[in-house]
Amino acid sequence: MQLTNAVIIVTGASAGIGAACATALAQHGAHVICVARRHERLLALQQTLPGQHAIYAGDISDPATMPTVVALAMTTFGRLDAIICNAGVGLSMPVAQLQWDDVVRCMNVNVGGVLAGIQAVLPHFLAKKSGAIVVISSVVGVHALPYSGGYAASKGALERLCDALRIELRGSDVKLTVVRPGTVQSEFFSQRMGANHEVRHTRTPGIPASQVATQIITALRHHPRIVYTRWQDRLLLWGSACFPELADRVLARMIQWRPDDSSRLP
Ligand SMILES: NC(=O)c1ccc[n+]([C@@H]2O[C@H](COP(=O)([O-])OP(=O)(O)OC[C@H]3O[C@@H](n4cnc5c(N)ncnc54)[C@H](OP(=O)(O)O)[C@@H]3O)[C@@H](O)[C@H]2O)c1
Repeated sequence: MQLTNAVIIVTGASAGIGAACATALAQHGAHVICVARRHERLLALQQTLPGQHAIYAGDISDPATMPTVVALAMTTFGRLDAIICNAGVGLSMPVAQLQWDDVVRCMNVNVGGVLAGIQAVLPHFLAKKSGAIVVISSVVGVHALPYSGGYAASKGALERLCDALRIELRGSDVKLTVVRPGTVQSEFFSQRMGANHEVRHTRTPGIPASQVATQIITALRHHPRIVYTRWQDRLLLWGSACFPELADRVLARMIQWRPDDSSRLP
């Protein structure tokens, strides 16, 4: 895919991976439609981007948002070439204490919002017989970590949705790539729902969001099925598939929950 003059929607563009993607795409000459809830953040980002771009402040879990974003792309630029379904929210809580409202909110954004984006762009892509969909999942979409069960369930559901979509798109010239980041430096951990009582004994700072953006740009050009952003994440998934008991033991030691937990993050 040629990025120069391509029109690309990026959800979750007000921070982290989405903002890095918008910046990288603009530097490659693409027109970006940046979507997130925080308007002032989008405005500030737009002012830093070279070239012509559009912003839309809205919640992707609102069914009206993504059709409006696609209409904005068509009226502003007259075409649409790709979508990066990146917006997402985390949820940290032991399964025994998960609040159903939080799980539903997580599902509404991480699955419902992505589904809405895909359904909004697909008629255009199928009609013009081209288009790329990049979905940002997570390694926990394949293997859950402790205290991430609610979030992992949403990313697991997203992965199965993408498995089905990929088969349904065969022969259509519409490409689907699923990206499975591990830990990335962003606002994700400070913004996630639930309680902040997880202790990771081996927490690494994670890779910069700009590095993930570079991998996403490559994916837009070559359309791989799956992208892992770190070799350690591939190793974790391989190890957990081959040695599940050992993987559970290691993860239980690496990631723990402070027992005095009763408070919840706002
Ligand atoms: N960081 C990691 O370690 C990591 C690892 C694996 C996967 N991921 C995935 O990577 C994606 C990006 O995360 P990130 O690390 O860049 O986190 P981030 O810095 O917290 O950014 C999340 C973005 O999503 C937007 N967003 C959240 N809820 C939204 C909603 N309901 N409607 C519209 N926009 C919404 C946020 O903007 P507003 O608040 O302005 O709406 C923000 O722009 C997510 O899907 C996440 O699950 C992250």
